[in-house]
Amino acid sequence: TEETLILVKPDGVARGLTGEILRRIEAKGYRIADLRMLTASRELLAEHYEEHEGKPFFEPLIEFMSSGPVVAVRAEGNRVIEGFRALAGTTDPTAAAPGTIRGDLGRDWGVAVQQNLVHGSDSTLSAERELGLWFA
Ligand code: GTP
Ligand code: MG
Repeated sequence: TEETLILVKPDGVARGLTGEILRRIEAKGYRIADLRMLTASRELLAEHYEEHEGKPFFEPLIEFMSSGPVVAVRAEGNRVIEGFRALAGTTDPTAAAPGTIRGDLGRDWGVAVQQNLVHGSDSTLSAERELGLWFA
């Protein structure tokens, strides 16, 4: 069986959508194997988003992601990495398909960074790396 790291980002927690997002993960059939709430340090986030270092949205992204508590989830199930990315929808919540977390619950708020409610690891390699960071 496979594991992934899911984050309910600060916008999701602040809007009171944690329960709804966890509900969708479980309703799909994935198992929540571990869960913690924390306000992430800039150091942790810089490691988490190291692939985006140097991009114009990197600094606003770190600022946003450290602005309040997030909920980190270790989720488990066959093909959960691909399956959760499908549940989440595309990165831009305006364009994300209805039926997805971002498509149903997200929108453009006119701020510097895309606030899109959730993160999910995008490969087995990044899942392993990210789970090591958030559930050390
Ligand atoms: P994550 O699951 O959070 O990693 O999202 P993703 O895999 O759909 O997107 P990606 O890893 O490419 O980018 C990480 C995060 O940076 C996104 O979720 C957005 O919050 C933000 N981001 C990505 N691309 C852009 C962009 O072009 N403009 C802005 N403003 N923000 C972006
Ligand atoms: Mg990503």
